[in-house]
Amino acid sequence: MRTIEIFDTTLRDGEQSPGVNLSLHEKMEIALQLERLGVNRIEAGFAAASPGDLQSIQEIARRVKNSTIVSLSRSVQSDIDKAWEALKNAESACLHVFLATSPIHRKHKLAMTKEQVIENAVAAVKYGKKYFDLVEFSCEDGSRTELPYLMEVVQAVVDAGARIVNIPDTVGYTTPKEYGHIFRELREHVRGIEDVKLSCHCHDDLGMAVANTLAAIEAGATQVEGTINGIGERAGNASLEEVAMALDTRKDVYQAQTRLKLDEIARTSKLVSRLTGMMVPGNKAIVGANAFAHESGIHQDGVLKEVTTYEIIRPERVGFKSNKLVLGKLSGRHAFKDKLTELGYQLEQEELNDAFKRFKDLCDKKKKVTDDDIIALVGSKSNDIPER
Ligand code: KIV
Ligand code: ZN
Repeated sequence: MRTIEIFDTTLRDGEQSPGVNLSLHEKMEIALQLERLGVNRIEAGFAAASPGDLQSIQEIARRVKNSTIVSLSRSVQSDIDKAWEALKNAESACLHVFLATSPIHRKHKLAMTKEQVIENAVAAVKYGKKYFDLVEFSCEDGSRTELPYLMEVVQAVVDAGARIVNIPDTVGYTTPKEYGHIFRELREHVRGIEDVKLSCHCHDDLGMAVANTLAAIEAGATQVEGTINGIGERAGNASLEEVAMALDTRKDVYQAQTRLKLDEIARTSKLVSRLTGMMVPGNKAIVGANAFAHESGIHQDGVLKEVTTYEIIRPERVGFKSNKLVLGKLSGRHAFKDKLTELGYQLEQEELNDAFKRFKDLCDKKKKVTDDDIIALVGSKSNDIPER
């Protein structure tokens, strides 16, 4: 079983979600919860971006002891100096320098030749190594970079001392097969790669960020970058809770684990949602309100008989109290009776039939039937007093 390291960028790429702006206090709350969750690295911000970002990274680095704190930095000396200013008192620190490598970015954004990109990348890594033992280099837009050239860049930054090399799918363009191929080629052809952590970083523009991440893991990536709830620039980043639970649930396929405390996932997700103001959709995998809710009568009956009929993850595994049987027009007698028992009612068969009929009538009028509706519905015709 391999252990995959988790690099959380909720406070950096996640904070790049349009409309999200976290205060120092809010960032600290999230960072402390990420430490509790057990992430290996926390990218706390981009020190050169603003004095506020620098201060947040500094404070987080002072308080968090069990995760490495990271600052993003462009491949320029002044950014690296700021990152050091922010991180010099951290228990464990990492510099994350990046430079775009793809032809589109080289031509239109950087106006640099291939040689100039390599020269700048190597200079940045070497300069960073003066301060930091742990330097990560990201080939921005790596998935759209010519593979032979990408390998040259990676070889150069590894030779310069980068200990983590990240291949971002910056624009969410790649596919699992293509992305996996890049990692296999790097593993096979770059000298010294076995001593370097290979990292993946996927965006969700085509809804494939988690699938691409898992493909990279299968192809030898040892670090995964992503965010809680999948928030981030544009369509967001790979959702870390989805990656972690895919690895945990399908150990048979991936043969890999993380060091995350999985039962802290629900709490982390709720905190990030509350503080960023980004609502988690009800149908979101793992942390959505409906992820462990069963509405169809056939499903409810199955789950009441044997939970594994329709549940591949126990809600407690990720920190939710229990699953939910949502009562609605598709619910059957089994779930209805179970709800009555939970509410403290023991009805005779005839009373039960009568109540079930009235429940179905109500369902035609109301999409969601609440506990109070059930109490009102039973109480109006029954002499039973619930025991609570
Ligand atoms: O998506 C991206 O390319 C990034 C880099 C800065 C790592 O976020
Ligand atoms: Zn990104």
